[in-house]
Amino acid sequence: MITFLIVSIITAVHASSPSWLNIGSGEFNDCKSAKGFSVGQVRLCQVYSDHMEGVSAGASAGLLECKHQFNNRRWNCSTVDDSSVFGPLNTIGSRESAFIHAVMAAGITHAIGRRCRDGQLSSCSCSRAGRPKDLHNQWIWGGCGDNLEYGYKFTQSFVDVRERERRYRRGSVEHGRALMNLHNNEAGRRAVIKMSKVTCKCHGVSGSCSLITCWQQLSTFREIGDYIMDKYDGATEVKVNTRGKLQIKDPRFGLPTPNDLIYIDESPNYCVANPSLGSLGTQGRICNRTSQGMDGCNLMCCGRGYNTRKVSIGERCDCAFHWCCYVKCNQCFKTVDIHSCK
Ligand SMILES: *[C@@H]1O[C@H](CO)[C@@H](O)[C@H](O)[C@H]1NC(C)=O
Ligand SMILES: *[C@@H]1O[C@H](CO)[C@@H](O)[C@H](O)[C@H]1NC(C)=O
Repeated sequence: MITFLIVSIITAVHASSPSWLNIGSGEFNDCKSAKGFSVGQVRLCQVYSDHMEGVSAGASAGLLECKHQFNNRRWNCSTVDDSSVFGPLNTIGSRESAFIHAVMAAGITHAIGRRCRDGQLSSCSCSRAGRPKDLHNQWIWGGCGDNLEYGYKFTQSFVDVRERERRYRRGSVEHGRALMNLHNNEAGRRAVIKMSKVTCKCHGVSGSCSLITCWQQLSTFREIGDYIMDKYDGATEVKVNTRGKLQIKDPRFGLPTPNDLIYIDESPNYCVANPSLGSLGTQGRICNRTSQGMDGCNLMCCGRGYNTRKVSIGERCDCAFHWCCYVKCNQCFKTVDIHSCK
C-alpha cells in the first residue's frame, strides 16, 4: 500500500490538505480517482497508464532510500501520519524537502529507464544512446542498455508538470517554491545519469573474450542515494528575487550547478516536536552513547540527556559441529544498555 502513498509527496507539495493516491494495488486504471494528481498528471496517467506501476515503484524506492540515508539523523524521514506521508514537512522549502524531491525524481527516472530496457513499457525499449567516444574501438556498442534518456524525459514531464501548469505571481513565496522544486527534481534526475556507467561483457568460446559488447547501465539506487545525500549536505540556500529568479542568499558562496540541491527556508531544528513544521522531535529516539556523530546521544538528544534501560537479547552461542552433519548451538542471553533521548 505504501507505494501508492508516496506519489503524493511529489504531487501534494502545494496541497494544503493531505491527499494520496487512493487506488488499489497494481492497476492504475482510473487516473482521475488518483487523488493528489494535478490536471496535467491525470492526462499523462491516461496516456501512459503502463508507466504508473514504475512511477509508484520508483517513488517507493525513493522513500526507502530516504529512510536509509536519514536513519541516524534527528529528522529520520519519518512519515508524519498515514494520510499525508511527510505531512507538513513539505510546507517549508527546507533542505529536507529538497532531498525528498530529488530522491523521488531519481527513483522514478531509475524505475522507468530500467522498465524500458526490460520491455515492460510500450513506448520505449533499450537505450539508443550514442557510443561513448573513449570506448575501445574493437568493442561493440550495442547491448541492450537502460534507457536513461527516456526515464529522464518521462520523469521530467510527469513530475515537473505540477509546477509548470500553475501561474504564480512573480517573486511570490509560491513561485520561489515552484522554482526550488523544479531545480531539485532536475538534480535528482541528473544524479541518475551522472552515476550511470558503461558496462561490458566478454563473449567467445570458453571465455576467450574474442568479442566484447558494451551498453549503458544504471547504478544501484543505493549509490545514487549516497550521491544525493552528498548534495544534501552541501545544499545551497537561495531566495527568490522580485524579478522572479532564484539567487544565492550569501554571495560568498559559489553558484549551485544543476546537479546541486537548493533550499529556501532554514530547517526547523527537529529537536522538539513541532507538528506544523513536520518535526516529530527526538524524544524517545535510540542513541549511541559513545558515538560523536549525529547518532550519538549528545547530538541526537540535543543536550537533554537520555534514559538507559537494560535489555536482554538472545543469540546463538557455543555452536558445535556434530558428525555428521549438523551444527548445534545454545541460546545465550546478554544484557545490553539501550539509550533513548529524554
Ligand atoms: C523516526 O523518528 C520518529 C520520531 O522521533 C520515531 O518515532 C521513529 O521510531 C523513528 N524511526 C526509526 C526507523 O527509527
Ligand atoms: C556506537 O558508536 C561507536 C563509535 O562510533 C561504534 O563503534 C559502535 O559500533 C556504535 N554502536 C552501535 C550499537 O551502533
